Amino acid sequence: MSQTNKTIAITGGAGFIGSHLVRLFVNKYPRYRVVNIDVLTYAGNLNNLKDIESKENYIFEHADICDEQKIDQLFSAYHFDAIIHLAAESHVDRSIMDPLAFVRTNVLGTGVLLNTARKYWTDSSQTLFYHVSTDEVYGSLGETGFFTETTPYDPRSPYSASKAASDHLVMAYYHTYDLPVVLSNCSNNYGSYHFPEKLIPLMINNILQNKPLPVYGKGENIRDWLWVEDHVKAIDTIFHQGKTGEKYNIGGFNEWKNIDLVKLLCRIMDKKLQREPGTSEKLITYVKDRAGHDLRYAIDATKLNKELGWSPSLQFEEGLEKTVDWYLQNQDWVKDVTSGHYQQYYNEQYNKR
Ligand code: NAD
Ligand code: TYD
Repeated sequence: MSQTNKTIAITGGAGFIGSHLVRLFVNKYPRYRVVNIDVLTYAGNLNNLKDIESKENYIFEHADICDEQKIDQLFSAYHFDAIIHLAAESHVDRSIMDPLAFVRTNVLGTGVLLNTARKYWTDSSQTLFYHVSTDEVYGSLGETGFFTETTPYDPRSPYSASKAASDHLVMAYYHTYDLPVVLSNCSNNYGSYHFPEKLIPLMINNILQNKPLPVYGKGENIRDWLWVEDHVKAIDTIFHQGKTGEKYNIGGFNEWKNIDLVKLLCRIMDKKLQREPGTSEKLITYVKDRAGHDLRYAIDATKLNKELGWSPSLQFEEGLEKTVDWYLQNQDWVKDVTSGHYQQYYNEQYNKR
């Protein structure tokens, strides 16, 4: 995509990764008009975008991506040149509790966006549908090996199955209708504005409040962590330089066993809170394992590096410290997003273990 004047829809722009992407695009590309389409579920929060909400090139549209009529109206009103699609239900544990919510938003919602884009976009050289996806579509690795762009899909959770279905729909629209698409599959993100139901912000929050740190199973599952600001820079790169019809893996070659990561966080928090070394580790509580818990994810991001020159900018320990500092300085945000809806859900689930 060239960098001339454009109107770009970003779906899910009030969520964790979406808000970082909206901020990057609004600030870096004043000639782009960015329309954030978000229904504001428990995971979407307009406070994530306070610093850019009054910018002239930013617009918020409260809409459900499954609502065909509303999405049609938005295409008709804004004449989008491109969509970067992030809106999704994103938490594996929730997908185990309520799989159909994931089928609805992640599969049907993606289908509605694709179908509306197909209806409105007649010139495929000037438009782009960018689908943001996850490495979880590839399933679970053993102790060795990496996911590449050609690894067969083998999703195991309702979340990853719904994302895999959406990826397939995107490629089907490319092959069947020549819709210009590009797709990326990223490893686990961390950083500011991350909803505190996911591992890293949940642990930071619980350490701060002296609550138990629930480690699933033996804590031996492995995830590959990437700083969210590096992810959105990769999206920026792929959006402008990626090849239509291609997919790109995004990851930081940064694998951590959950228990080692939780212990590292405990050490960082003890230091920041001036607690006696070892204090926070005492909060670690091994709990019942997640059903169908994938053992290991690890991304091979060589294609993105070799073809488009992207590589992560931040070392993990530095990124974690920055993240911890952000949570310590933004406790009002944490209180705000964890009040009500989410708190009730979390308490119910946690008490069942
Ligand atoms: P998130 O849960 O923090 O945010 C999702 C956003 O989508 C929220 O603002 C929510 O309000 C919005 N949304 C949900 N349903 C909607 C609907 N029906 N209509 C309109 N808006 C809706 O998610 P995230 O962690 O920022 O993930 C964003 C995307 O990136 C997802 O597609 C996810 O699969 C993908 N991804 C996430 C990670 C990760 O580590 N978080 C890694 C790789 C890929
Ligand atoms: P999560 O942040 O939910 O991301 P994902 O399941 O998409 O990888 O979980 C990361 C890892 O941490 C995963 O192996 C599950 C584990 N985990 C815990 O051990 N305890 C927790 O409370 C949570 C939320 C996750």
